[in-house]
Amino acid sequence: ITPDEIRRWDQQHVWHPFTPMKDYDHSDPVIIQAAQGVKVQDIEGRWYYDGVSSVWLNVHGHHVPELDHALIDQLSRVAHTTLLGQGNVPITVLAHRLSKIMPGHLTRFFFSESGASAVEVALKMAVQYWANQGQGQKTKIMGFTSNYHGDTLGAMAVAPDDIFHWPFLSYLPKEPRAPYPYCYRCPLQKTPDRCHLACLDLAESVMRAHQDELAAVIIEPVQGAGGIIPAPPGYLAGLRDLCTRYDVLLIVDEVATGIGRTGKWWATSYEEISPDILCMGKGLSGGYLPISATAATEDIYRQFYGRAGDRTALYHGHSYAGNQLAANVALANLELISQNQVIENVAKQTPDIASALDKLRPLPYVGDIRQKGFMIGIELVQNKEQRTPFPYAAQAGRVVQNLARQRGMLIRPIGNVVIFMPPLASSSIEIREMVDILCEAVVASQPLLEDLL
Ligand code: LLP
Repeated sequence: ITPDEIRRWDQQHVWHPFTPMKDYDHSDPVIIQAAQGVKVQDIEGRWYYDGVSSVWLNVHGHHVPELDHALIDQLSRVAHTTLLGQGNVPITVLAHRLSKIMPGHLTRFFFSESGASAVEVALKMAVQYWANQGQGQKTKIMGFTSNYHGDTLGAMAVAPDDIFHWPFLSYLPKEPRAPYPYCYRCPLQKTPDRCHLACLDLAESVMRAHQDELAAVIIEPVQGAGGIIPAPPGYLAGLRDLCTRYDVLLIVDEVATGIGRTGKWWATSYEEISPDILCMGKGLSGGYLPISATAATEDIYRQFYGRAGDRTALYHGHSYAGNQLAANVALANLELISQNQVIENVAKQTPDIASALDKLRPLPYVGDIRQKGFMIGIELVQNKEQRTPFPYAAQAGRVVQNLARQRGMLIRPIGNVVIFMPPLASSSIEIREMVDILCEAVVASQPLLEDLL
């Protein structure tokens, strides 16, 4: 099969996720044929840095011998059997291993295949947790503005968005929703050093208004697709207290932030809090295979523990849940993270990236640079003083994406935010080269961004 055929068939038959296809057809799309380490190769043989870890999930790079071996090793035993009503070895060992690294008291793991599914499970767990205790009125989930939890209906329902979900808004409840603590565009127009987290009061007033019907609150500790926005220190801990006070569950969506991405195993650990439910996915298999999990406390699990006649079971489960290949790779991934001190690597290189990016701050279109570990977002603005965003349709981030690609790195922006999420095990030399490309692309974007206005 020739590269030309692949390009033609791609255009004729593949409907790409999250992709305006006319833009895609008018671009010169990258089609990958191989990868090695933190680089990927397209069908023309060009190599690029994987600057967004293949949508935020790659950990050790590609084609990692230990992960390849774990996959082949498992393949020689069994690829998949159902987890519905029966067990399997790698998933059991994985659950046990995860129980050793979770924050707080999360000891029970419900496995799925995508981040969105892990969130669906969390939402259903939360609602049924109350229903099983005779509190069927507690059905609402408070989300935060511009959060992103995945693309299934339940996940959208806690984070509806006018741009992405407009045809489905009639399915999606408008409330209860609190403003995310987005300090660059503070919902209370305060400056971060003097705000005393007054935005927590906004969350509290929403919780108070819905107190009797509220089952849970769901939050991303760092808003990812919303634009890489870390919640300010103290916010999550404050939210934990509010949830305890108002008797609602706290669901932390760590699909993007978990497994070391922010420089600790979990972003939640920065605040030493104990969520009731935690969702993970993405990096769980190192970026190899689809597997996700919803972790819950024993207290939650106990409310579901019963016989068929009790009607307390969580009747949810996908055919491929608990896939052995994915579980064995996930185990090898966790092992390699510890062995190679990958999370320490993220923590160690975080300040180097920050100081290299500081030189972009004075540029006229660079509004804000935000970072938590290896999650980096550069928000482009058309007017720096007024912090005026570029209109979404201008796709300002794509200008930088194209320039980075010409220089040998693939990134994927979201609207006005240029996103950089290198693989967690990237060496300091690789990080330096990637950051150089990123900086060059942002600098070179200036005249093109002017043309957008
Ligand atoms: N929760 C969080 C915090 C996430 O960041 C994601 C995916 C999910 C849940 C859903 O996980 P999934 O079902 O995809 O495994 N749409 C963006 C990319 C979002 C990044 C992926 N996050 C884009 O167009 O680039």
